[in-house]
Amino acid sequence: MIKASVKVDRDFFVGETDKRIYGSFVEHLGRCVYGGIYDPACPDSDELGFRKDIIDMTKELGVPVIRYPGGNFVSGYNWEDGVGPRDKRPKRPELAWFAIENNEIGTDEFAEWCRRVGAEANLAVNLGTRGPDAARNLVEYCNFPSGTYWSDLRVQNGYKDPHGVKLWCLGNEMDGPWQICHKTAEEYARAALEAGKVMKWVDPSIELVACGSSNMRMSTFGQWEATVLEETYDIADYISLHIYFDNLDGDLPNFLAKSTEMDGFIETVISICDYVKGKNRKKKRIDLSFDEWNVWYHAFDANKEYISKREWETAPAFNEDIYNFEDALLFGSMILSLLRHCDRVKIACLAQLVNVIAPIMTVTGGGSYKQSIYYPFLHASKFGRGRVLRTLCDCAKYDSRDYSDVPVLDVIAVENEEESELTIFAVTKDMDSDVLTNFSLREFEGYEPIEHIVLQNDDLKAFNSINQPDAVTPVRKPLPKADAGALEVVFPRLSWNVLRLKKQ
Ligand code: AHR
Repeated sequence: MIKASVKVDRDFFVGETDKRIYGSFVEHLGRCVYGGIYDPACPDSDELGFRKDIIDMTKELGVPVIRYPGGNFVSGYNWEDGVGPRDKRPKRPELAWFAIENNEIGTDEFAEWCRRVGAEANLAVNLGTRGPDAARNLVEYCNFPSGTYWSDLRVQNGYKDPHGVKLWCLGNEMDGPWQICHKTAEEYARAALEAGKVMKWVDPSIELVACGSSNMRMSTFGQWEATVLEETYDIADYISLHIYFDNLDGDLPNFLAKSTEMDGFIETVISICDYVKGKNRKKKRIDLSFDEWNVWYHAFDANKEYISKREWETAPAFNEDIYNFEDALLFGSMILSLLRHCDRVKIACLAQLVNVIAPIMTVTGGGSYKQSIYYPFLHASKFGRGRVLRTLCDCAKYDSRDYSDVPVLDVIAVENEEESELTIFAVTKDMDSDVLTNFSLREFEGYEPIEHIVLQNDDLKAFNSINQPDAVTPVRKPLPKADAGALEVVFPRLSWNVLRLKKQ
């Protein structure tokens, strides 16, 4: 057994979580929308064709904000195609993912679905094939009360009250050559500034997310952020980050170490934001919107096959990663990385929500199940809100192929002052041993464990499916005893843990 010691002190404070770090993402991609949130053929759908099982699971996950309609999709999207009478909406070849978009679901339906799941919409505007004009019109359509061309059209389409969309993305991954109308940093920065300016002129209460790099391995990473922020600093409120990790080579220690790269990514982007702030003597601070993150690789081969055929289907099964238990471990550590930086990461969107690299899977027409990654997200969203405390962890470290000094115990504590609760989240990464952990919980005398939830599986490749929905599912462990703020607990080998304490 490996030993670790962890100090948690109420005064070692990272920040308050913004509830929007538990956001997600719905893109017109594969079966995320059609056959995912919307499936009129499913007997369990409501009167608008929205699946009730998905509404219920989304509510259970407590997702407060949902990004839409893309992703890469948005860079070729005409939002006007998706509003008004459905029989008049055009079908179009969609060039981001090579599918036929039938526009049955558009902005109004998505806003309505958000109301049904209790989430706020985060809309992205098209800065690929479109620009400031389409963007400002969409803000007018969504947020203007009435009495203007686009707001009256919304009313005529059956939505008397404005959708009141507060958070907007200025395009998507515009640094990537795969993007429809990819731009250089200078080109994007100008487009984002001018679009953002008129969007805020239509509704000054909105917040804007400027595109950062698609990932930190882009050759333009760093310079892209600096150039974009130099130009857009006065209209942008956040800069975006995206990250996806794979385990293509099956090197588990290296895979589990990847969350440390996410830490480094966040810290580098914070430095760039603050560099631009300092250089230009700005008072305003730019915060981070980590608006795409996940594990993604299982469906790469199937994707290639679909793309090579170009069959132009509507809602083909695409990017349907089936997550195993190992994926849930890294996924859990990625959540801890977001929490560890909650003073600057104010928004994060798990990409995506249903069917496409998602925690929730459906069978079109009926049937659904929860993937392994559903559980760490659920636990963090439920118990990981409040004051994030800086945990001082003394434990063994390991080197992997691409990373060094990776702690075998990834741990963070979140205090919910209102409920007098403290929740410890931990991921263990040693391949062979449990981790016996001694906590010193300063200023938390009188707090006793009330629940220890563990996600663990002897079969590291185990995954859930429609026939075996509980192959990977959390269990409750017997509770350790706390003694005057001291606590000894065994975190099992390769596991995700949620240890909840409450003041007695
Ligand atoms: O989430 C899937 C895709 O990943 C998004 O469309 C794009 O923004 C990213 O490359």
